[in-house]
Amino acid sequence: MLALLLEAQQSGVQISDELIRDEATTFLLGGHETTAIALAWVWHLLAQHPDVEERLAKHLEVELCGRPPRFEDLPRLAYLQQVLRESLRLYPPAWYMTRRADRDVEIGGYRVPKGVNVVMDIWAVHAATTLRPGEGGVRVKVRARASRQGSTVPSRRKSGSYRAFVAA
Ligand code: HEM
Repeated sequence: MLALLLEAQQSGVQISDELIRDEATTFLLGGHETTAIALAWVWHLLAQHPDVEERLAKHLEVELCGRPPRFEDLPRLAYLQQVLRESLRLYPPAWYMTRRADRDVEIGGYRVPKGVNVVMDIWAVHAATTLRPGEGGVRVKVRARASRQGSTVPSRRKSGSYRAFVAA
């Protein structure tokens, strides 16, 4: 990403050195730990689900033919995306977010007065069985089916119930 910013700057896009420095700091602080935690959970889950690991290895072998992935390969790596998304659902690295109400507001029937801090528990939202009746455990196969039908989003997912990256 740093290379992309520098390339853009050198090709004439108005980006100051200070902005690139600030972006690099954000990448390091916001991007490093989240990604490291996400990958640690992926390895953990793959170790627990050798069938998924085997299918993922075959998928990568077929799509990449043994070479390292490139940016432009990403759209074709659908099963990898499903594995990553499911791991992020089960173990979101940023597992909660906070916001302060800047006005009186009602959320889900609860009155939140102006100035109150609100904590959104992303892990609990992802895990809530009421959002996914009858489902439990790892759901890569459910996602694989949804993907074959032209969508990477399982049909039973309620809007807003996947929050690994999303600020509200
Ligand atoms: C698995 C990896 C990652 C996860 C789970 C993740 C998760 C999140 C979440 C939940 C937020 C919203 C926080 C909030 O609004 O309270 C956020 C914001 C942000 N993330 Fe990440 N992140 C990841 C990787 C990265 C990477 C690699 C970068 C940069 C290289 C990055 C840069 C940022 C930035 C700049 C924001 C703030 C956006 C804004 O101004 O609202 N993140 N991330």
